[in-house]
Amino acid sequence: MAQILDGKALAATIRGEIAARVADRTRAGKRPPGLAAVLVGNDPASHGYVRSKHKACLEHGLHSTVHRLPEETTSSQLLDLIDRLNADPTVHGILVQLPLPRHIEKEAIVRAIVPTKDVDCFHPENVGRLTTGFPRFYPCTPHGVVQLLNRYNVPVAGREVVIVGRSDIVGKPLAVMLMQKPTADNPAAGDATVTVAHSRTDNLAAVCRRADILIAAVGRASLITADMVKPGAAVVDVGTNRVGHAWMGDVAPEVAAVAGWLSPVPGGVGPMTITMLLYNTLAAAEQIDG
Ligand code: GUN
Repeated sequence: MAQILDGKALAATIRGEIAARVADRTRAGKRPPGLAAVLVGNDPASHGYVRSKHKACLEHGLHSTVHRLPEETTSSQLLDLIDRLNADPTVHGILVQLPLPRHIEKEAIVRAIVPTKDVDCFHPENVGRLTTGFPRFYPCTPHGVVQLLNRYNVPVAGREVVIVGRSDIVGKPLAVMLMQKPTADNPAAGDATVTVAHSRTDNLAAVCRRADILIAAVGRASLITADMVKPGAAVVDVGTNRVGHAWMGDVAPEVAAVAGWLSPVPGGVGPMTITMLLYNTLAAAEQIDG
């Protein structure tokens, strides 16, 4: 049976380290790191995610505000709010929860966030810095995946990684991070051989079977079945799919019998994503306030 990549336990350890650093700053008279989350519309999953992020901030000594706006909010109203948050010294990180309603131009919103407060690492300047090996922030979910692999001593350098899914939030930045050479400026780089598979990939099963590390980030329940996994491989499940009242990953449960390591859903990548958001908000405060 696979060793469990326990994101909940690892998140608790890293959150403890973050809370201690936040407490040190507050004791030294500095402002607590502050996150402003912006949520437009009524998507129930998004409301749940933002609630979890807000709660995690408060539990670890960070300042947190949530701006809940109605579905019919205009782009210009949203841009006005972002301008105010950009200028607010109590706010070190700004997060606009995606997806946005269709009438709002997502690209304009993402570009309006000042890059020094872009704790999601969605702004083109920060994507460019990441891609050229000088990240200001690592994007939260990819960073959580890398931390899970590293802290469980899964060998990455030189190995075959297959990422299923090419999203801007997970697949694409994770491929960049795992393919890069580690440096002092880019310590989370993986030095791996990376393949990105997607909906047009021919013979997905054969491509996945090459992987020493298989990362599923598609959003389709049980897409990855046991026959697609090399025995002993590490399998990281980034999927969160609502099936009835339960959450299911992109990886079928029977994969646990074949894999060497497996991240569960829930309790794998999810808690790590929120932890890396706290980490980035602390890093933003250090960069802005010293
Ligand atoms: N929607 C799904 N994942 C994310 C994320 O990491 N950040 C934001 N802002 N929205 C999301």
